[in-house]
Amino acid sequence: MKILWLDSIDSTNSEALRRLPELECGTVLAAREQTAGRGQRGNTWFTQPGCNLTFSIVLKRLLLPAADAVRLNFCASVAVAQFLESKGVNAQVKWPNDIYVGGRKICGMLIENTLGPDGRLMASVIGIGINVNQVEFPQLANATSLALCTGKSYVLEPALEEFLDIFDAWLSKLSSEELFSVYSSKLFRKAVPARYHDLLSNQEYQGVIEGVEPDGRLHIRNLDGGDYYYRFKEVSYIL
Ligand code: BTN
Repeated sequence: MKILWLDSIDSTNSEALRRLPELECGTVLAAREQTAGRGQRGNTWFTQPGCNLTFSIVLKRLLLPAADAVRLNFCASVAVAQFLESKGVNAQVKWPNDIYVGGRKICGMLIENTLGPDGRLMASVIGIGINVNQVEFPQLANATSLALCTGKSYVLEPALEEFLDIFDAWLSKLSSEELFSVYSSKLFRKAVPARYHDLLSNQEYQGVIEGVEPDGRLHIRNLDGGDYYYRFKEVSYIL
């Protein structure tokens, strides 16, 4: 993979999408500062300049059917969790792709795909923000970083290369059973009774995460007995 470091950009995902025609598959745009980092659901992703990893991986012509795009989510989530584990930090995946350590968020992802006329993925921009050296999160009650977890600080450039090696290894096993089973094994709150908000019915209930289906849906068993299967944005965790 070829890393292009940018001193300052609005958002590495936005820049990757703008430059998509010219960027080769496997290019990684990494920013020392993002001035308008984008998060899930239209949120802003704030990070202290120079402290954290904020980057986007450009993949082209994977030719995955759109229904299998969730595999990229499994791949990126498992790679971040293993990267953190390589630093001695035990990480879990809060479905679908937030990475948590000890109940706090250490990494978020924004994956944006373009589809061809045949319904297959033409290009994917996998945007990842990992909190590395930042130790204060004034706007965020529930955030943590590698430095807060280990008491150490990290040089960002080699850290990104280490992450990409792990990511690349999983990318070569994108359709494997192993990737799915490792993702499933890392699920935050699996088998732990907790409260969930069903956004379809606007009801809150007590339930237990049973696992993830191969198509990426989250399976929650309501403590009253019903089984529910959710797609992205159909349920939220009550933290
Ligand atoms: C979230 O948890 O809401 C997703 C956050 C994704 C942040 C990363 S940082 C690199 C890339 N560029 C962006 O603008 N967003 C993603």
